[in-house]
Amino acid sequence: MKLSLGSEFIGKNKVNLLFFLVAVYLLSAHKASSEEAFKRGVVISQNKIASAAGAKILSVGGNAVDAAITTAYALGVVEPNGSGIGGGGFALVYLSKDKSLVAVDFRERAPARINQEKYQFVQGPKAGGIPGTVKGMEFLRSHYGTLDRKTLLEEPYELALKGFPINITLKNAIERQQKTLAEFNDSKKIFLLDGKAPDLGYKLEQKDLAKTIKEIQIHGSKGFYEGFLASKIAASIQSSGGLIDKEDLENYEVRLYEPLCGNYREKYKVCSFPLPSSGGVCVLESLNILENFDLPKYDYKSPERIHFLIEALKFSFSDRASRLGDPKFNNIDIQPLLSKKRAFSIAKIITDTSKSSPGNLPSEQIPTLNLQPYSETNSEKPETTHFTVVDKEGNIVVITTSLNGALGSGFVIPGTGILLNNTLDDFALPSQSNQYGLVGNNLNSPAPYKTPLSSMTPTIVFDEVNKPLLALGSPGGPTIISAVLNTLLAFMDHKMSIKEAVSAGRVHHQWMPDLVFAERELIDTKLQRILKEKYGYNYPTKETNVWKRFYWSVQAAELNWENGTIEGASDPRTEQGLVYEVVD
Ligand code: DON
Repeated sequence: MKLSLGSEFIGKNKVNLLFFLVAVYLLSAHKASSEEAFKRGVVISQNKIASAAGAKILSVGGNAVDAAITTAYALGVVEPNGSGIGGGGFALVYLSKDKSLVAVDFRERAPARINQEKYQFVQGPKAGGIPGTVKGMEFLRSHYGTLDRKTLLEEPYELALKGFPINITLKNAIERQQKTLAEFNDSKKIFLLDGKAPDLGYKLEQKDLAKTIKEIQIHGSKGFYEGFLASKIAASIQSSGGLIDKEDLENYEVRLYEPLCGNYREKYKVCSFPLPSSGGVCVLESLNILENFDLPKYDYKSPERIHFLIEALKFSFSDRASRLGDPKFNNIDIQPLLSKKRAFSIAKIITDTSKSSPGNLPSEQIPTLNLQPYSETNSEKPETTHFTVVDKEGNIVVITTSLNGALGSGFVIPGTGILLNNTLDDFALPSQSNQYGLVGNNLNSPAPYKTPLSSMTPTIVFDEVNKPLLALGSPGGPTIISAVLNTLLAFMDHKMSIKEAVSAGRVHHQWMPDLVFAERELIDTKLQRILKEKYGYNYPTKETNVWKRFYWSVQAAELNWENGTIEGASDPRTEQGLVYEVVD
């Protein structure tokens, strides 16, 4: 299923210098062809080893899809806190030749034997959905890639076999998950040294994972879902009390969707991931609401602008909680949610109320929810990863991929080196919020092979003549949606460069809990007080049991077709983020 965006393909072979927020590495590249629109291809991720592995693929002539596959596998090895072959994700792929855009869903699905009692553990083998990454990557390679698996998986294989120095992000994640990791033999053996997180710079070797990657390199996704490795994965999970069996692996399928696109201020076309992600719906709904306010005329830090943004997020997140779920299992018509008319009515409520609103239209009831205040007690520290790749031909791949929590379920499938995800926590349980404080109803209740509702939001913005302008995404659970929205507004309304937009302070509200989460950079103590007095907003305190830091980390690329330049921006909030560019 492809969505053609029409319009002319413009811009050839123009040169400019790129300055990146973080270090820039120049790698040798294959010879320029007349098809090339850009002087350089870029790989932008939150881990420099993985960005370099992807960039190397661009330099040997691979396209953006090839480079994305290598980056994904490499991230799984060097950033197991964020993603890996035991998880899943979403890819938005733009192919410049036919100007097509496709949404590829390789997210985890619920195992056939799921039930409400069994999966509600955030840690351990019961928390895992059927992994989709290997099939997802093989789908991308066989449909849009140009290189063989041997080439694409070689560097990730070597990184697993020979090891790499662990960075502060991984060290901290291991420390936080130490107790869980210690419960499982293989997790303990791989990630702990004398029961503790290894020191910074410790060379982490993952021999079993290397063997697993080799098997995939040779046999492709069949090796993972059908062969002896599949039997081993299923048997190991079963004997550890998990739910996934051999049939679940055999039945796993990648799903294709039409991306969700909407116009913003008649200047931009924003395309994002559709259901089973709530990301596209929430970002587009928020933009539709905000279009009714003349945001560019307000200062970026003005109370009015921030108020409109908070309210738009609230309405979108109340729709997320009450009206969204896996489209394969529910008959959900999202068009009403994205109608400009409804957005206008919401904007009117926001104006008329002129205070913090309940986040729903009085004429529309919020379908039944079982609510419980958010508590951090059973919560772990979430991590995920996003990366953006653009090649010289202007092909774009944006992927957000995850194990859900930091180091997923903490359970390494014995003998395989694969960390299993804990994505089943993204389903909604009666009377409970999940680890991100998110609530939901039966649209997002668990069922065999159902996909839990996600917030992952890989997004591409096009200009009036349908040329891609911006590609971005972020980790961060529900804050993914607000990270993408804040960045889009800074870029589209406030004309910030992508580097400025990625660095600008952000605000998040997810309707429940009714709290404003904001970075000091955007809302300082004085502004906090003003917003409270003017609109009645509340903020997390020591007593409110919510997460204590943000996990958003936007990785974005801005394409300038006129100059033939691509500017990359890796979120400065993530110390390890890096933009790699490939030049001739
Ligand atoms: O799909 C989702 O919405 C979550 N599983 C994403 C988790 C995440 O982003 C964790 N964050 N840092």
